[in-house]
Amino acid sequence: MERFTAVRTERMRLLGLDPADPASGKVFMDMSARLFGAPVLAVICTDKALSSYLDIGLLVQTICLAAQHFGVDSIIASQLVSQPDILRPALEITENLNIVTGIGLGYAKPNSLINTYRSTRRPIEEVVRYKD
Ligand SMILES: Cc1cc2nc3c(=O)[nH]c(=O)nc-3n(C[C@H](O)[C@H](O)[C@H](O)COP(=O)(O)O)c2cc1C
Repeated sequence: MERFTAVRTERMRLLGLDPADPASGKVFMDMSARLFGAPVLAVICTDKALSSYLDIGLLVQTICLAAQHFGVDSIIASQLVSQPDILRPALEITENLNIVTGIGLGYAKPNSLINTYRSTRRPIEEVVRYKD
């Protein structure tokens, strides 16, 4: 949550929005819900009879990497599938499938401010432990 808040704050500031202002928060939420204009949405589902979220994670990342190979950028966004009651009938997603996440895809505008944002990374020592 700390990282989520930090990244949100940094992105909002970059766009000239005040993270503490509810009206600015709504503007940002709207931009984010529209995935900053990505024109294509891939909805990733998994059969309810299968339980491996590891497999689906691999697939999601592979889609993003393959897209990038073809010059298409992506954003993994659960927000896009946060309303399954609307999504399911609209896309005819059957009940045997769980909706896992969405991936927004599109050609990034290089001069768009939001696309200049780079999140920081936690130090490697914080996330990796070496044992002799
Ligand atoms: C499973 C998952 C769900 C995510 N959902 C959202 C989302 O709903 N909205 C959003 O703006 N970013 C979301 N993100 C984060 C973006 O995809 C993020 O920009 C991307 O993971 C690149 O991360 P980076 O900032 O570490 O480079 C999600 C990431 C993951 C892995």
